[in-house]
Amino acid sequence: MHHFQYRGDELYCEDVPVRRIAEEAGTPCYIYSKATLCHHFRVFDSAFKDVPHLTCYSVKANSNIAVLKLFNSLGGGVDIVSGGELFRARKAGIPAEKIVYSGVGKTVDEIDFALNENILMFNIESTDELEQINRRATAKGVKAKIALRVNPDIDPNTHPYISTGMNKNKFGIAIDTALKAYEQARALSNIEILGVDCHIGSQLTEVTPFVDALKRLRTLIGKLRKIGVAIRFLDLGGGLGIVYDQESPPQPREYADAILRELVDIDCTLIFEPGRVIVGNAGILAVKVLYTKRTQTKNFVITDGGMNDLVRPSLYGSYHYIQTVMKSQRNTEIVDVVGPICESGDFLARDRGMPLPTAGEYLAVMSAGAYGFTMSSNYNSRPRAPEVLVNGSEYHLIRRRETWEDLVAPESLPPYLNEACAR
Ligand code: LLP
Repeated sequence: MHHFQYRGDELYCEDVPVRRIAEEAGTPCYIYSKATLCHHFRVFDSAFKDVPHLTCYSVKANSNIAVLKLFNSLGGGVDIVSGGELFRARKAGIPAEKIVYSGVGKTVDEIDFALNENILMFNIESTDELEQINRRATAKGVKAKIALRVNPDIDPNTHPYISTGMNKNKFGIAIDTALKAYEQARALSNIEILGVDCHIGSQLTEVTPFVDALKRLRTLIGKLRKIGVAIRFLDLGGGLGIVYDQESPPQPREYADAILRELVDIDCTLIFEPGRVIVGNAGILAVKVLYTKRTQTKNFVITDGGMNDLVRPSLYGSYHYIQTVMKSQRNTEIVDVVGPICESGDFLARDRGMPLPTAGEYLAVMSAGAYGFTMSSNYNSRPRAPEVLVNGSEYHLIRRRETWEDLVAPESLPPYLNEACAR
């Protein structure tokens, strides 16, 4: 469900024509629907309403502070993976006691920042990190609240780059050694064990891997309690997939039912870290067709949005449905929708059947709300796109388009080049 629908011949986001935003804000431009964001958050969160839980939205999927503030207003916490994300979360007013912090490479500065903020818990990914966090907590005279991120060695059946719960992945502590790691944690003076964490991958389209992982975690929790380690929180990570093309991922309700069946009597507060399922279908990337070009083998549609704006097709071969902003009566042709970047890997769609658009036309690249803007870059010295949040019949710019001055603002010259320039 999302609020990007045609009214007559024209694509709307809620009650605002996408064309109007594209004309006023320019393209490429990310457009998010507030109603869709809220709906998806509520559907996910309410699926667990009968059990103690905390929905910690995964900031990496879409980190705009307006988006974070919106979820905060709905009672959500956040899952972060860097000091920068913690900074954003605090700017957005997310209470520290609703912040969980994962990631395999936390630096001393990041650990210190999170200790100072007194976040709910660190999800620790190695025993080296455990020792480091204990040292930093000792230095500050505080206790670090932690869970160990356990790697359950389950294949999530998703793209290899976003599979995280198998032994060959860099994430978490292998489940076979987890008990020992908890004993190590228990012996550390400035560590307070709160829970168990796991995240097995992203864009999962079936419940079985989640349930299989959970079975293993349950056994571990049983063993931990037997040796006197109290486990109050069970963090199950994120990963629920969405429809980009022909997938049929479980609805949050089915996901919740499958999980809760496994967790009768677990006596833990559950934490979830959903990202994509909340924001993915709540956003589009609007682009403009600059040129079309027919070659002997291809029809190219060249747009002003490229892999620096939305890298998912280039990086993972991901599918994003693309539709014209004004309904088109033209015949369907097979086209490559490409960007202006100087790489053949710069495409938004390949061999896609769609009405051949003409120069000046706007296209909507659908399902771009998750890992769209957050993965964008300045490659080819392209300013990053603006972000717009639609609310009913109005919209607001929640991030302006970067300027060429922004591109060079952090750069500086060594003195010898300064002199040379002055001469
Ligand atoms: N928790 C942790 C520890 C994670 O690493 C992730 C995602 C999530 C939660 C949220 O997962 P979600 O619910 O969004 O699936 N750039 C890729 C996706 C990378 C996911 C990384 N971790 C893409 O565009 O598909």
